[in-house]
Amino acid sequence: MQKDISEDLDTIPTNQPYQRICDFGCGDGLSTLNLTSSLGAEKAFGVDKYESNINRAKLWGRALTKFIELSEVNDDIDIDLQDQATKVIALHQSIEFKVGDVARNEMPSNLNIAYCNLLLVNIYKSAYENQLSGISGVEAAIENISKSLVGGGYFLAIEQYGQGLDFNYLFEKVGLKGNGIPFLRKPITTDSRAFFVENRIRYVYRKCL
Ligand SMILES: C[S@@+](CC[C@H](N)C(=O)[O-])C[C@H]1O[C@@H](n2cnc3c(N)ncnc32)[C@H](O)[C@@H]1O
Repeated sequence: MQKDISEDLDTIPTNQPYQRICDFGCGDGLSTLNLTSSLGAEKAFGVDKYESNINRAKLWGRALTKFIELSEVNDDIDIDLQDQATKVIALHQSIEFKVGDVARNEMPSNLNIAYCNLLLVNIYKSAYENQLSGISGVEAAIENISKSLVGGGYFLAIEQYGQGLDFNYLFEKVGLKGNGIPFLRKPITTDSRAFFVENRIRYVYRKCL
């Protein structure tokens, strides 16, 4: 996931600080942790419509603290892993995880970066019990997320591509400037990376200053 997120972030300038960022549709928060670590953001948010996901995301700090406690009495655990866990615990403290529906609720404000991975397409397809779906659902989500950006902020969305799926005009409709770049990605499965590739698109849009 870290490799994928680094590739995604290569499309925006990384020589400047991004103070406030948000991972929309953050799931269990792993993507938020990787995003925050890659950007070195001061304050990060992870938003997901399911409370169960947000509760899991909030548990990373406790889970890793437990891991460190156990590794102190277990000689088999590599010291590097303990150090990594300590760093992730610090990172986790800068992230606020919140329940919210990106197509309906008010989102965190003054963001320098809004990121989402396979969120818009799932809204479009009414997956994850999205009732506000199809083009109007995606339009509402893009409008809402765009409002949460500061002038000059970036909206980076990684989505499925092909089969008529193209949301570029919806980003343009809310006044964002940028483009969508198709690419291929091997999806991450529960235990590794898949052998097959999928068509994806990286929407890289910016709010005017
Ligand atoms: C494909 S998963 C991506 C999870 C994670 N960000 C990742 O990259 O592995 C999509 C996530 O979007 C969330 N989601 C779907 N519709 C949403 C909505 N309308 N508002 C907020 N979150 C939503 C789902 O609960 C799910 O966790």
